[in-house]
Amino acid sequence: MGGELRAQYLQAMGIDAWRSRSSSVDAQAILAESGALPVSPASMGDVAPRISPGIDPDIDWDTLQRQVASCTRCDLHRTRTQTVFGVGNRTADWLVIGEAPGAEEDKRGEPFVGRAGQLLDAMLAAINLDRRRAYIANILKCRPPNNRDPQAHEVACCEPYLQQQIALIQPRLILAVGRIAAQNLLKTDAPLARLRGRVHRYGERQTPLIVTYHPAYLLRTPGDKRKAWDDLQLAVRIYSELDKGGSV
Ligand code: URA
Repeated sequence: MGGELRAQYLQAMGIDAWRSRSSSVDAQAILAESGALPVSPASMGDVAPRISPGIDPDIDWDTLQRQVASCTRCDLHRTRTQTVFGVGNRTADWLVIGEAPGAEEDKRGEPFVGRAGQLLDAMLAAINLDRRRAYIANILKCRPPNNRDPQAHEVACCEPYLQQQIALIQPRLILAVGRIAAQNLLKTDAPLARLRGRVHRYGERQTPLIVTYHPAYLLRTPGDKRKAWDDLQLAVRIYSELDKGGSV
């Protein structure tokens, strides 16, 4: 990506104040950046969630998508317009996981298509990642009424679907956007501030998982966009380490 285009994306993220530093550092330089990688206790095996024994190794995408579309496991099916399965490259290296569909997503059947989605696109573009190259999904496939937080039993009902998606995609890196995604994926109630800035591990494949702010939060709190940019740079660095054949 050219420096000017990158600067435009950074500006869209609202971190143009960083241009002097980050726009002069192109993606390659970010990838090449060295330094000790912070590793969370999860990578030492104490809180890394295990893939559920309910995973069906033979399920295919169409079957899974049909199961989700007709799901009535929790009451959210009563108020949804439609399920929001997930979108993108089914063999993506990068899997982005958000919280739950909002009004616009519920209407269109696609994750992150509202205002928060536009900021997410800008965040991904800032690290040279087109959303169509990634896969984007949510913790919940149905919209909670009035965008309230997902309830524990709703997450539990929906979790096998996301686990199946992850098993099918086999992403090389998971980006958890927001507290709800991070806490549910990592099975912790630690605040987001403590989950950012280090590498967690997800599932049996020990997939690196990076936590960042939810774009809807960043729209309300633009002062934290710089920290989100740090998180994205960490994710890029971790990904580049994988490419070098390291095990991070
Ligand atoms: N917020 C989310 O977490 N996911 C969406 O799909 C839209 C908004």
